[in-house]
Amino acid sequence: MSDSIDEYFDAALSLVKSAGNLITEHTAGCKLFELKSSDIDLVTEIDKKVEETLIGGLSEKFPDHKFIGEETVSDGGKCELTDAPTWVIDPIDGTMNFIHGFPHSCISVGLMINKVGVAGIVYNPILQQLFTAKKGQGAFLNDKQIHVSQVNELKKALITFETGTSRDVERYKAMLQNFQLIVSKGHGVRSLGSAALNMCMVALGGADAYFEFGIHAWDIAAGAVIVREAGGVCIDPAGEPLDVLSRRVLCASNVELAQELTQNLVQFYPERD
Ligand code: IPD
Repeated sequence: MSDSIDEYFDAALSLVKSAGNLITEHTAGCKLFELKSSDIDLVTEIDKKVEETLIGGLSEKFPDHKFIGEETVSDGGKCELTDAPTWVIDPIDGTMNFIHGFPHSCISVGLMINKVGVAGIVYNPILQQLFTAKKGQGAFLNDKQIHVSQVNELKKALITFETGTSRDVERYKAMLQNFQLIVSKGHGVRSLGSAALNMCMVALGGADAYFEFGIHAWDIAAGAVIVREAGGVCIDPAGEPLDVLSRRVLCASNVELAQELTQNLVQFYPERD
């Protein structure tokens, strides 16, 4: 099994690196975009090209593998997770950043087998940050092993946080209450504009936790493997095991900090994809 995961991972990594060139051609911003589910949920031609490159290349090499890709699902494709090897792909996580030229965008590719995350690749080609992990083999930034921080209380934690891509009023209420909670109780809040990169900051030990209500499987599948392999926890924000299709995530450096957050966060349950 681990030999085949190595083979899958190597194939994906080479495709991700070459697809990164499509992103770096537009580091100053990509002003042509369309709206998806809201006026702050955006897509560019480059998102679509990167996704086509990855799905095309992987399905040619591994014809029985399945895919959950952000743009394919937006165009009416199925968002279905089975036991089959499934690539969960966000061609550009941080599309809003990409459009504006804010240099925190990445390709996020997770591989799940039997519904368990076994490999993750998060690549920001603009800043040359390559985060990778394979189950049981640790997490790496540009080939150097990374670990979560030791911070285990909210009052000492730096938390990554996002305002999200929908204008749903109930979600806004919960999001703003949670923002207030972490601003008033924690060390501080940071926002990279990409769920996958926020998760990688937790894996790196630069941030201590990240949570969001309203993300999608493609935003978090790769990051979840990377956080766990860096020694952190990745769960549902109410404390249950993570369900990648639930559109809810909480990751933290350790169980103590995760539990403090689960006990204090205002919960929100978005509609599933
Ligand atoms: C979005 C980003 C954003 C997060 C949203 C995601 P996209 O992904 O990760 O930071 O707040 O929930 O949907 O649209 O840039 O791929």
